[in-house]
Amino acid sequence: MEDKILVSNSQIVQPDSLPPLVSALKASAKQDVASFHFPGHNRGRAAPPSLTQLIGVRPFIHDLPELPELDNLFSPDGPILEAQKQAASLFGASETWFLVGGTTCGIQAAVMATCSPGEYLILPRNSHVSAISAMVLSDTIPKYIIPEYSSDWDIAGGVIPSQVEKAIKELKKEGQKASAVFVTSPTYHGICSNLNEISQLCHYHGIPLIVDEAHGAHFGFHHHMPFSALQQGADLAVQSTHKVLCSLTQSSMLHMSGDIVDRERICRCLQTLQSTSPSYLLLASLDAARAQLNENPETIFNKAMELAVETKNHVKNIPGISMLESSSFPKFPMMDPLRLTFGFRQLGLSGYEADEILYGDQMVICELVGTQSITFAINLGTCRKHIHRLVSGLQHVSATSLSVEKVEKRVEHSGLAPFADIYISLNPREAFFARKRK
Ligand SMILES: Cc1ncc(COP(=O)(O)O)c(C=O)c1O
Repeated sequence: MEDKILVSNSQIVQPDSLPPLVSALKASAKQDVASFHFPGHNRGRAAPPSLTQLIGVRPFIHDLPELPELDNLFSPDGPILEAQKQAASLFGASETWFLVGGTTCGIQAAVMATCSPGEYLILPRNSHVSAISAMVLSDTIPKYIIPEYSSDWDIAGGVIPSQVEKAIKELKKEGQKASAVFVTSPTYHGICSNLNEISQLCHYHGIPLIVDEAHGAHFGFHHHMPFSALQQGADLAVQSTHKVLCSLTQSSMLHMSGDIVDRERICRCLQTLQSTSPSYLLLASLDAARAQLNENPETIFNKAMELAVETKNHVKNIPGISMLESSSFPKFPMMDPLRLTFGFRQLGLSGYEADEILYGDQMVICELVGTQSITFAINLGTCRKHIHRLVSGLQHVSATSLSVEKVEKRVEHSGLAPFADIYISLNPREAFFARKRK
């Protein structure tokens, strides 16, 4: 096994055209060293066979610790710094941080870097759990906004600028000022808020805007794509590079624009929240995903966009299946063109039932299932063959359900968002540490 892993010194450290961190990882892994460092699989020599059977030994060979030539995530001055700089340049940020704890840790850091204990954060009531845990960590007080909600779809929309303004003014009346505004755009279903107006509003009041852009790392990279959060004036945007771009799961990026937010405080928060042993495979995958996008940023999504349009055109003709469109949420005209949500109510099926047929009969796997709908993510890896399978799967759902039951089964809803009834008796941190009973 050892012979296969070790490569002689004469073969290493050749300058190449690889992205900076990928190149450094390659060179470091090639060195013929006597290694007495972590991780314990020792550059693959003791990699567990059951896993190498699946993925080979190469991931282990490149699973290296913070060796001097690989730089340090928390005080970078080598290949990590260079990789982050190249990412910042591509995504239009003044500074970019690579994250190994997903967008979850980026959101926590963004909130902790802007809100101190006892201060206010304006955010949608249905924010991702990381925004809630961020408030637990920083002892921040929420000022919730209730986002739009469609009972037909049982889906939440975005946040409108006047809601943000109202929240800012209500706090002002109480003699308070929000330390940050937090908006999720796009939502999981691809619904975009008007960040341009929201950022202008925030800046008018001297408040930083944090955008949870977990689902929008591809925005701005095609002329039919919505603009990214940074392009619309956000101060901090956190993107799950692993969700819509091609890095490894758990790897994300935090981008900053301008200087409203204290960068040193972001660094401190990220160091507090992340492992002291960040995975170089995750970090290199961020560098590689950035390089992949950088090769042809204007055209890389052409095929995915074509496939998405093709799918929508096919599905329009399938009886009983509806499509989430901008007309479903008239206040939010911008939607992610690569996120497709289909409804099955006219067939008398819930999203869960339709998903069972699609997966069970057709082996089509979606991204998200809801009471009324199923959501599919189109990405750079989507191929026409799979689109055909999805379309014929949906045709199958329609045909089998129409023949069984032709009456539309309305699922009753109050019309109110399930998260609309807010009564705050404890702050998130107090609630987290309070004694509880099940
Ligand atoms: C809207 C939203 N924000 C944040 C996150 C957290 O992202 P990550 O999985 O990269 O930690 C998710 C994850 O699904 C999400 O849907």
